[in-house]
Amino acid sequence: MKIPFLDVARQYTRLKREIDDAIEQVLSSGWFIGGERVNSFEQKFANYTGSDYCISCGSGTDALELILRGWNIGPADEVIVPDFTWISDAEAVTTVGGKAIFVDVLPGELTIDPEKVKEAITPRTKAVIAVHLYGLPCRMDEIMAIADRYNIKVIEDCAQAPGGTYKGRKVGTLGHAAAFSFYPTKNLGAYGDGGAITTNDTALAEKVRLLANHGQPRRDTHLIEGRNSRLDVIQAAILDVKLKYLDQWNLIRTRTAGKYSDALRNTNIKPPVVTGPRSHVYHMYVVQLSKRDVFQQYLLDAGISTAIHYPKALHQLEAYGHLGLSDDMFPVSSNAAISVLSLPVFPELTDEEIEYVVRTLASVVSNML
Ligand SMILES: Cc1ncc(COP(=O)(O)O)c(C=O)c1O
Repeated sequence: MKIPFLDVARQYTRLKREIDDAIEQVLSSGWFIGGERVNSFEQKFANYTGSDYCISCGSGTDALELILRGWNIGPADEVIVPDFTWISDAEAVTTVGGKAIFVDVLPGELTIDPEKVKEAITPRTKAVIAVHLYGLPCRMDEIMAIADRYNIKVIEDCAQAPGGTYKGRKVGTLGHAAAFSFYPTKNLGAYGDGGAITTNDTALAEKVRLLANHGQPRRDTHLIEGRNSRLDVIQAAILDVKLKYLDQWNLIRTRTAGKYSDALRNTNIKPPVVTGPRSHVYHMYVVQLSKRDVFQQYLLDAGISTAIHYPKALHQLEAYGHLGLSDDMFPVSSNAAISVLSLPVFPELTDEEIEYVVRTLASVVSNML
């Protein structure tokens, strides 16, 4: 049996009628940027997360950058970022002229280590980006306590975690502002780029809305210089259809994850760690093991495609070579880069495919390790 790591076309096939209708309505309306459909999606997404405001924008990377700009974070400012994440978190900081300070992540869960955040704070620190990596909410109580004490902002990076909860509250409401990505492979994915900011900070909401649309509150009025970062109407209409299914899809991901974790119990392949009052939405189902490459090949030989998120920690990327950071400064993330492996967990996997993965995992455990 051949099992793809991800097949986004399967979801489209299932929703084809609804999605095609939504796109067709936009095409016939002749209205492609801004307006009622975008506003309506923003309202629904704000309600879904439980935030006062949702401002859509061009991508998750833009969402991070717009939040930083919205708070006037820029040159001479430092923003603390986990060393094990997608590059956007660091890029956004550098793009606004600030300095991204990398800190190590927690063993097992691989989200930002609150103790390391505390150690990295200086008088120049303005914010920390808490990335809910793979769909697992960070330890937000600890992070918010540090932020309160040192008077810094907390940005949640929810790109991989829409629908995840911490103490019963959805991600996107746990920090001072949050960035979401609607990149096509995400749990809530558009058919192109897209992103959103959620926040309860009224001043920030007003500012990022201006920044994302050339500083215009209305036509021919430019209060500030901004940029063009907008979710187009076709993407908003697609997301509007898909948002209804997000909880159901996350539940299916969680069930599949539970089956995989059962198959790995008592082995030296470590399943994802979920402790404390949080729900993981398994954007990725990521195991950790020392013989990662052997295991990946074994699965591939059995027809199961996997992926590595991420083969390099931020400090190991060429882009940050000039910072002169070494692996011993980030032992957990350096080890993660050589030990993580993502298994297929998308909601459209069939029961037969899931059972096949489970059986294969069981046989790997007895044969390979
Ligand atoms: C953790 C994380 N942050 C930020 C982003 C950036 O999102 P986008 O690709 O929409 O710019 C992504 C997605 O690629 C991501 O996984």
